[in-house]
Amino acid sequence: FHWDEARRLTDKEEQLKQVLGVERCDIVHGDADLDKAVYSYLSQRIQQILQQQLPMNEAVVAVTGGTTLAQVGQGFDDTLSKDHQITFVPARGGVGGSYRIQSNSVAGLMAQQTNGQYIPLFLPEKLEEYTADLLLKDPNIQSIIDQSKNADCLILSVGAADVMAKRRLMTKAQYQYLKDNNAVGEAFGIFYNQQGEKVMRLPRYGMVLDDLEHIPLLLTVVAGSSKAHAVESYFKLAPKHSWLICDEGVANRILQTH
Ligand code: G3H
Repeated sequence: FHWDEARRLTDKEEQLKQVLGVERCDIVHGDADLDKAVYSYLSQRIQQILQQQLPMNEAVVAVTGGTTLAQVGQGFDDTLSKDHQITFVPARGGVGGSYRIQSNSVAGLMAQQTNGQYIPLFLPEKLEEYTADLLLKDPNIQSIIDQSKNADCLILSVGAADVMAKRRLMTKAQYQYLKDNNAVGEAFGIFYNQQGEKVMRLPRYGMVLDDLEHIPLLLTVVAGSSKAHAVESYFKLAPKHSWLICDEGVANRILQTH
């Protein structure tokens, strides 16, 4: 039974890799929209990947924010610290809203759980342009952003457009604009449509989408079938060397339409 089950998932991984045009695809059991245990499977799988792929000894891992990565970080443990000294660095400054899902908090949590290091980027993103320009010129802040852009690995997630629009506290006009232009997903401050075309870009400090090309290990982590459209379209604009780590909920819904 287990062997059949494993082969079934391996087949799906291969299919999904072809459909999305990613370098590698890993699928864990379940659908996070129905079963929160999925997040601990994702944590385990990502730790295995980091264990195998990160350079020995010192490595830098950049992370974005969101509920997915906050839950994944919660499931990390200190096994990685045996062979690796990992420094986690946030991929962006601070946005409004919940503390737990800030990029800074997720990086801090992952460092704490793995017994690693953490470099915070305490840069509020809601600033006057003049102030922001000044801060971004500061060599200390520049050095943190540079470290994220030169990371060995980036762990990122992708959100559904409507959920992210609400979280980003958009104006009615902005919300309507996203609707009129059929935005399906958001990643890295960019809302995109089903064809993977950019619909709107939100201002942000830190890594931007173009920086992803230079990151050797690019792990996109997504869970829950409700995110399938957002995921499928994301890979129309994401770098080809991306790896997708997702649950069966996402995988099944994408494969249904192919
Ligand atoms: O920035 C947030 C991510 O793109 C997705 O967030 O994991 O809460 O859905 P989420």
